[in-house]
Amino acid sequence: TSILILNGPNLNLLGTRQPEVYGHSTLADIEAMCRAHAAARGAEMQFAQSNHEGALIDQIHAAKGVHAGIILNAGAYTHTSIALMDAIASVELPTIELHLSNVHAREDFRHVSYIAKVALGVICGFGAAGYPMAMDALLAHLAQKG
Ligand code: DQA
Repeated sequence: TSILILNGPNLNLLGTRQPEVYGHSTLADIEAMCRAHAAARGAEMQFAQSNHEGALIDQIHAAKGVHAGIILNAGAYTHTSIALMDAIASVELPTIELHLSNVHAREDFRHVSYIAKVALGVICGFGAAGYPMAMDALLAHLAQKG
């Protein structure tokens, strides 16, 4: 089983970006944690980040036929991007929406998610630990689907 873990804008700055909100782990730390977690579960994974909406859409399209599911932390595009929502709907791959912070405890504009409308489920508020949680949730869903 292979999964794509896709990260959106500003997540390349993790570690120094508002650590009181997003924690002290860098994206490289999170990638290493995900790699170890995937290996322990016998799963394959691709880990990617882009600050560009179109590049994220291209990665979602490219996942079709390559990966069995997607974990998407779309950053602020979560709250704005109909195009990302349409990309997820188009490839028909089970997708988990992920956020480090509890977006529901934050500003009103973060309570809206276009991604959630097409996502299998949403994990938020657990910091970097949400990544392995999302991996387990996706792998369990894929195993159950057979
Ligand atoms: C985020 C939450 C978004 O609202 C924000 O724009 C981000 C990060 C998170 O992981 O908590 O860039 O997706």
